[in-house]
Amino acid sequence: MAELTVSSKNPAGAKVDALVVGTHTTSDGVAIVGGDLPRPVVAALEHLAPALGITGAADEVRKLPAGPELKADVLVLVGLGARRADGTFSAEALRRAAGAALRALAGTASVAVALPVEDEAELGAVAEGALLGAYAFARYRTDEAATSAASRLPATVEILAGSARSSAAKAAVERAKVVAAAVNATRDLVNAAPNDLFPAAFADVAKQAVKDSGAKGLKVTVLDDKALAAGGYGGLVGVGQGSARGPRLVKVAYAPSRPAAKVALVGKGITFDSGGISIKPAKGMEAMKSDMAGAAAVLQTVVAAARLGLPVAVTGWLCLAENMPSGTAQRPSDVITIRGGKTVEVLNTDAEGRLVMADGLVAAVEEKPDVVLDVATLTGAQMVALGNRVSAVMGADDVRAEVVAAADAAGEQFWPMPLPEELGASLKSKVADLANIGDRFGGMLVAGLFLQEFVGETPWAHLDIAGPAFNEGSAHGYTPVGGTGVAVRTLLGLVEGRAQR
Ligand code: BES
Ligand code: MN
Ligand code: ZN
Repeated sequence: MAELTVSSKNPAGAKVDALVVGTHTTSDGVAIVGGDLPRPVVAALEHLAPALGITGAADEVRKLPAGPELKADVLVLVGLGARRADGTFSAEALRRAAGAALRALAGTASVAVALPVEDEAELGAVAEGALLGAYAFARYRTDEAATSAASRLPATVEILAGSARSSAAKAAVERAKVVAAAVNATRDLVNAAPNDLFPAAFADVAKQAVKDSGAKGLKVTVLDDKALAAGGYGGLVGVGQGSARGPRLVKVAYAPSRPAAKVALVGKGITFDSGGISIKPAKGMEAMKSDMAGAAAVLQTVVAAARLGLPVAVTGWLCLAENMPSGTAQRPSDVITIRGGKTVEVLNTDAEGRLVMADGLVAAVEEKPDVVLDVATLTGAQMVALGNRVSAVMGADDVRAEVVAAADAAGEQFWPMPLPEELGASLKSKVADLANIGDRFGGMLVAGLFLQEFVGETPWAHLDIAGPAFNEGSAHGYTPVGGTGVAVRTLLGLVEGRAQR
């Protein structure tokens, strides 16, 4: 990751390759904001903006020669959109602008960012946005041109802000570094090719991530296929049995001394979802390498909580399997037994996520956490309902509201969805306790109702991130193409909130 510092120096004097300032749309044109640039520079830019086609819209990035009044070589104008009624910008608008600017600055060694920052929270948002925008995935590139263009990320990013030296500012920036590292590591996992990232390899990544974090109180436990069979984890065994590379359940526990609360996180980790015997169409199947985004987010949230030393016990459960068709794969009509004893008739092997998550939820709930949250790229129906930018959250009303509030504060979009009891009837099986599919309409809610059967009385929410986890369109704000790292910021914010309850 880029080396990030904060200083209260004047932007005009910043000796960097590129200086980033904000633009925003006004009723009669464009205004420049962020740091006091010399008045004539501002006046000239604002005057010329229309002729240069600069509008101040979000995601607009323009590079100009900085001119003799500035010590920087290049001046980068990044759009913040319109100001709010009170004249300020939301933390998320700042985060996105910083991200868009840094995304456009691959190949630029030193960058200074001067955006209108009023408090520590906004400083943290700019720092986060910058580090999230300065992301590239070059693991598989070997050609010189590609590696240099894609991965020559800015080496240094200096944020210019008046309040730079306060201890609150320092803490906000330290937190931003941990958060961005967690989100970027989640992206790396999602982008990894499924021939490299299979369940056992993912388990190894979890162990390594814990080691590398240097954080105290972290412990990883791995159940392999034999242990899963012995432990009655019929969902993981059933889904994983079609693959030559067996399933794993990884427990990543962060246990501080005298925790204020105990949170369990369960993540869907299907390292590749071919659909199994109910095989998916070839078109678009490659995106199913991202079907482990929930597990990746859970792993990195636990590591981040530990790195921040939060006074909350957080246990992550990574439900890892590869869903493949083969002579050993489970069949439509197989009946499996989830841990804890409930039986499920597998009518569609492509509804595999709920099977591995059921095992994970039962395991999580056995340890009596105060709350359990599960995160999964669970249904195509999520994308039909909410698209690729907005995730869904279902579950107990209060936990669901807590997730929405944490997401709003973190700058992620989660929308509350219901779990209508009547829809649950469609999950009835002719032979077992439950079927793994029900009504097609409301398919996201049906999947949520299925999971609800496995959480008992524990306060619970289910996060369906199917669309937002993997960006198949173009990059925007601080969001790259491919793995996005969604849910990490929301989950971490929720855990922090639990420390204060
Ligand atoms: N992993 C998919 C859901 C998914 C689809 C995530 C597209 C991201 C993008 C999941 O395992 C799945 O296949 N769900 C089926 C369920 C159906 C068979 C009830 C679906 O949504 O079609
Ligand atoms: Mn599937
Ligand atoms: Zn899946």
